[in-house]
Amino acid sequence: MSATIANASDSSREQAISILEKGGLVAIPTETVYGLGSDATSGIAVAKIYETKGRPSFNPLISHVHDLDAALEQGVFNRTALCLADKFWPGPLTIIVPFKQTGTVCDLARAGLSTIAVRVPLHKFTLQLLEDFKKPIVAPSANLSGKLSPTCADHVNNDLGEKIELIIDDGPSCNGIESTVIDCTHDTPRLLRFGAIPQENIEKFIGPLETANLKNDAPSSPGQLLKHYAPNAVLRVNVTKPNPNEALLGFGKTINATLNLSKSGNLVEAASNLFSMLRELDKDYDKIGVVPIPNMGIGIAINDRLWRATK
Ligand code: TXA
Ligand code: MG
Repeated sequence: MSATIANASDSSREQAISILEKGGLVAIPTETVYGLGSDATSGIAVAKIYETKGRPSFNPLISHVHDLDAALEQGVFNRTALCLADKFWPGPLTIIVPFKQTGTVCDLARAGLSTIAVRVPLHKFTLQLLEDFKKPIVAPSANLSGKLSPTCADHVNNDLGEKIELIIDDGPSCNGIESTVIDCTHDTPRLLRFGAIPQENIEKFIGPLETANLKNDAPSSPGQLLKHYAPNAVLRVNVTKPNPNEALLGFGKTINATLNLSKSGNLVEAASNLFSMLRELDKDYDKIGVVPIPNMGIGIAINDRLWRATK
C-alpha cells in the first residue's frame, strides 16, 4: 500500500470519514504535530495504530474530541480540569481525567488504565472531521514509535506512507511540538509532559503544578518513556564547539551552525523547527550537537525533548 496525500478539503474529509468508519487509519493535521488517527471506540482500529507505529502497548493514546461536551461523555472532570478546558480548549493541552463508566473509548486506547487523556485540537479541518465523525479519534503522533514527531505531511509519508491509506496535508503544523499533558486525577494537578503551552501559563490559572519524576529514569507515567524523541544520529546537548564531522544545530547568533532553529532567537519558532531540522540533519550526519537553548517558556519543552533524545 502507498498512501494518498490529499489536501484538506470537504472531499478529503469525507474520504477520511469513510476510512475511519471501516476501522482504517488516516494521518491528520493538528496545530501541534500530525497525528495517526483511528476510531477511538474500536479496539481493532486502535490496535492497528500500535502495530503501525511499533508502539509499546503500555503507552496510552490521546482521544481527540470536538468540544467539551464530547469530552464530558468520556471523562469525569473536576473543577481544575473544567477550568483548564475552559481556558485552553481548543488548543494544545491534553487533560487526563478518570474514565467515565459510560464512556465509549475502548480499553486499548487507554492501555487498560482507568483514566483517559482527552484534547480538543485547535485545527479547522480536524475539528470539522471530529464533528462529522461524531466519535472520538485517537491520534498519537504519526511517526514510528521512538522516532521524531512529524510536523508536515512529507514526514508522515516518509515514516508511514507504505502502511496507511490516506494522509491529509494542511501544511506545516503551527506549534511543531506536542501538547502539554496535565494529569487532573489527583487533588494537585500534575504536569506529565512539557509541551506547546508553557507551565507558567497554566499555573497562572490553576496554581502550582506538581512536576515530580518528570526527569526520573524510572518513568512515573507512560508519557515519560525515555527513548521517545530520538533521531538515529548520536545527539549531544549544550554544545558550544562541535566535534569533527558533527552537525551543529544552532539557535540565535550561533556562528557556523549547520542549521539554525531560530536566527532571531525566538523560542516558539525554534520549537516549530525542532523536529524537522533534526530530521534534516539526521539524513546527512551520524553526530548532531545542539547549542544551549534557553530553559524558559517553551524552551523547557525543547530541552526536555533533546534530553530524551540523548538517552
Ligand atoms: O500534540 C499531541 O498531543 C499529539 C497530537 C497528534 O494531538 N499527540 C500526541 O500523542 O503526542 P502521543 O500518543 O504521541 O502522546 C500521548 C501522551 C503519551 O506520552 C502518553 O503516555 C500520555 O499522553 N498519556 C495518554 N493517556 C494517558 C493516561 N491515561 N495517563 C497518563 N499519560 C497518558
Ligand atoms: Mg509521540
